[in-house]
Amino acid sequence: MSAVTTGPDTTTGAWWRSAVIYQVYIRSFADGNGDGIGDIAGIRSRLPYLAGLGIDALWINPWYPSPMADAGYDVSDYRSIAPEFGTLDEAAALVREAHEHGLKVVLDIVPNHTSDRHPWFQEALAAEPGSPERQRYLFRPGRGEGGDLPPNDWRSVFGGPAWTRVTQPGGIPGEWYLHLFAPEQPDVDWTSPDVRADFEKTLRFWFDREVDGFRIDVAHSLVKAPGLPDLGPDVDTSNSMTDRTDHPHWDRDEVHQIFRGWRAIADAYDQPRIFVAEAWVGRPERLALYVRPDELHTAFNFDFLRAPWRAAQLRATIDTTLAAHAEVGAPPTWVLSNHDVARHASRYARPQSERAVHALQDLLDQPADLALGRRRARAATLLMLALPGGAYVYQGEELGLEEVEDLPDELLQDPTWARSEHSDRGRDGCRVPLPWSGKEPPFGFSPEGAAAAPWLPQPAGWRALTAEAQEGDPESTLELYRTALHLRRGLAALGDGPLQWIDSPPDALHFRREPGFACLVNLSAEPLPLPPGADVLMTSEPLDRGGRLPSDAAAWFSTEGS
Ligand code: GLC
Repeated sequence: MSAVTTGPDTTTGAWWRSAVIYQVYIRSFADGNGDGIGDIAGIRSRLPYLAGLGIDALWINPWYPSPMADAGYDVSDYRSIAPEFGTLDEAAALVREAHEHGLKVVLDIVPNHTSDRHPWFQEALAAEPGSPERQRYLFRPGRGEGGDLPPNDWRSVFGGPAWTRVTQPGGIPGEWYLHLFAPEQPDVDWTSPDVRADFEKTLRFWFDREVDGFRIDVAHSLVKAPGLPDLGPDVDTSNSMTDRTDHPHWDRDEVHQIFRGWRAIADAYDQPRIFVAEAWVGRPERLALYVRPDELHTAFNFDFLRAPWRAAQLRATIDTTLAAHAEVGAPPTWVLSNHDVARHASRYARPQSERAVHALQDLLDQPADLALGRRRARAATLLMLALPGGAYVYQGEELGLEEVEDLPDELLQDPTWARSEHSDRGRDGCRVPLPWSGKEPPFGFSPEGAAAAPWLPQPAGWRALTAEAQEGDPESTLELYRTALHLRRGLAALGDGPLQWIDSPPDALHFRREPGFACLVNLSAEPLPLPPGADVLMTSEPLDRGGRLPSDAAAWFSTEGS
C-alpha cells in the first residue's frame, strides 16, 4: 500500500483541492460563556477535538454583528464580531490557534443583502427616492394605483412577496425595496460602485487577518436582470434549482465578472486565499462556470446532497459532477448536510424516491426508520470521503445526529416558520446545539452551572450520542469519522484525482482510485461479496460471517494485493 504521512498539499497552495472542511455553525457549536449561545471561546476550547478529527479547515457561519433576523445572515457590520460571539481580538486568537493546530479558517461572506439595520440601509431609508443612498439597494416605485402593488412578481425564498414598502416621514407610503430573503435582509444593488468597493474592502480586512478564505452566501443571486422583469406565471420563484438560464435573479451570467475581481484579490496574497460558492443552480455545467480557473476555487455540490440513497441516482450525480468539473479543471466537492437542510441521517431514514429531492424538509412528512437512516449515513460518509476532490462535514454529523423534528412551535426561530404562515417548520431542527458530554442537557454545550439553557432544547436521547459517549467506541459514528479521515489523509489515492468505475451489481457502487484503493457501497437489500483479494481498510458496518458486505454499508479496501 502506498501511503504518505502528510495531509493535502499545503505548500503549493492547493490544499483546497482535497480538503475536508468542517462547518462550524457557531451559535450551536460550543458555548464558552454560559449564555446558551455558542461563541468564539467555545470554538477555541474545541480546537483539539477538531484537529483530532482529521479535518483540514473550518468554515464558520456568519459571526458578524447582526440583529439575527436570519441567524446572522443579516449582517449590520461586516468588519466586526457580534458581541454574543466574542470580539475581534478573540477572532484573531482563534485564527492563530487554528493555524497552530494545522487547521485553515474559512469565513462566510453575505454579499446579496445586508441587514436592514446596516448603516447604509438606515441612510437609504432617511434619504429621498433616487438619492445615492437609495441606489445602494433596489428601491422602486410600486405599481398600480397609488403605487400600492409591488414593483414585480418576485417572491421571497422564505415565503411572501420579495418586496416591502417603506413609509416616508409623515406616514406617507413610499417606495418598495427588494429582499429575496426576509424583509430584514434588503438586497444590495451590485451595479453600485460603493457596494463593489465595500465588499472588496471586507475581503481584504479579513484576509489581512490571516483568514484563509470565504464561503460566499447565495453567490448566484447578486446580479438582477436590468429593469427587474416579472417572472411570469407558472414559475416557482423561490426555487433556484431551475434549468432556466435567463432567470431574472438566479444564476445570471453577469455574476461571474464580480467573482473574477474577487479571485484577483485572493491571489494577491502570498498564501493565496480561497473561495467556495454557495450556488444552488440547476445543472452541473452551470455550477462549473463558477469554478473556472480565474474564478472561484470550489463550489458546494448540492446535486449530491439532493440525490436519493439509490445507486443509479448517486452514480449519475457523481458522473455528471466529475465531467462538468473536469471541463474547467476544478476539483469537485461533496456535501451531505448543512445548516439549511434536514440532516441526512433523517433524510435517509425515509423512503427514497427515484428523483433528486428539491424540498428536503418535505421528506420529514414520511414515516422514519432512524436506525436505517444512520446506517445509510455512515455508508454515505465513506462514499463521500472516497470521491475525488474535497468534502464538507456539517457539525454533528460525525456524532450521527438526526434532525430534531419535535421542537416546540413557540421556540422556532427560522424566519421561514413565520413567513410561511406556519406551514414550513424551517431549518431549526438541524441547528440544535451539539451534545459534547454528560447525561443530560446541556450535554457540555455550555459550561457547568451556566445561567442560560441552550438556545434550542436538545433531545434527551442525545445522551447516547455525546462526543464523550462515543469516544473510543470502535462502533461509534465519531470513531468511524476519525478513522476514515485519518486514513484518507494517509492514502495517496484519495482527495483530488481520477476515479474509475468497476463493474458491479446494479444496486452497488464500486470504484477504484489509484494507487491501490477501492470503495464498494452496497445499496441493495442483500449482502454483497467483496472482490477476491480485497484487503479491507475499513467498513461502515461489520462484515457478515461469510465476509460479505451487508446491505446499506460501504467498504474501503486496498487493491494492491489483488
Ligand atoms: C444562504 C444561507 C442561509 C440563509 C440565506 C440568506 O442560503 O445558507 O442560511 O438563510 O443564504 O442569507
